[in-house]
Amino acid sequence: MSIIVTGAAMGIGEAVALKSAAEGKKLVLIDRAEEELKTLKEKIISEGGDVEIIIGSVVDPDVAERAVEVALSRFGRIDGLSHNAGIQRYGSALTTTDELWDEVININLKSAFILSRAVLPELIKTKGAIVMMASVQGLATQNDVAAYTTSKHGLIGLTKSIAIDFAKYNVRANAVAPGSVDTPMLRNAVALSDAPEKVMNTINAMHPLGRSAKASEVAELVCFLLSGRASFITGEVVKVDGGLLTQIAGSPTDD
Ligand SMILES: NC(=O)c1ccc[n+]([C@@H]2O[C@H](COP(=O)([O-])OP(=O)(O)OC[C@H]3O[C@@H](n4cnc5c(N)ncnc54)[C@H](O)[C@@H]3O)[C@@H](O)[C@H]2O)c1
Repeated sequence: MSIIVTGAAMGIGEAVALKSAAEGKKLVLIDRAEEELKTLKEKIISEGGDVEIIIGSVVDPDVAERAVEVALSRFGRIDGLSHNAGIQRYGSALTTTDELWDEVININLKSAFILSRAVLPELIKTKGAIVMMASVQGLATQNDVAAYTTSKHGLIGLTKSIAIDFAKYNVRANAVAPGSVDTPMLRNAVALSDAPEKVMNTINAMHPLGRSAKASEVAELVCFLLSGRASFITGEVVKVDGGLLTQIAGSPTDD
């Protein structure tokens, strides 16, 4: 089994790559963080895995085509796409610039269309699966994340569209919606505050389970959805959020 994993150099994508390699999947990893991706490649190879890397941006159609070519020439087939590359930026509909809007929509959403278009012909042959990394912010929203939340809502729409268009070929597409996950993205966001520790504690407390997720907990779900164990699940958005969106904020008995 061979899969393409984007955003693989760190965070959730790295966890998906490591778990997939441990499961014996052959991997083509995409990221623009060259040094980190090369380090991960060495680690996977040292542990007996089979991996190729593509350095570049997921917005670039040539990168997607190259990933498909490399997967086919090295492994002969493509069984799945795990799309995790993404960025978090801040601003409301009034404060978001055109540049920032385009950056977020291109990297978080248009990339998913570009990658899907490149891999779908191969997934049709293998009855493969796509897992898109959305967010709880694809289902609800917060202040000052207009572009990000729009990109993640759009990603869920694209996932459902692919699920329906390609169900006749037994290709499945699902989205994963994490709450806060302890990754470089979250750490960088928290570091923007004057009181990072306090913000981290608040973020953890927002989740009924009282903490943020580990990237490996999200990778578990991704690998399940990519696998044949999820053979009747398609067009779904699965939360992995420690109960975050299940709870109605505030309570009449709160102090
Ligand atoms: N961390 C969280 O709390 C959280 C919560 C919900 C959803 N998510 C989503 O999960 C995904 C992964 O997030 P993470 O926390 O692991 O982030 P991260 O910043 O820790 O890692 C993201 C990876 O994507 C890569 N990347 C970014 N833009 C790219 C581009 N244009 N081309 C190629 N690679 C690119 C980065 O280099 C990095 O290796 C993102 O889509 C994010 O929106 C994260």
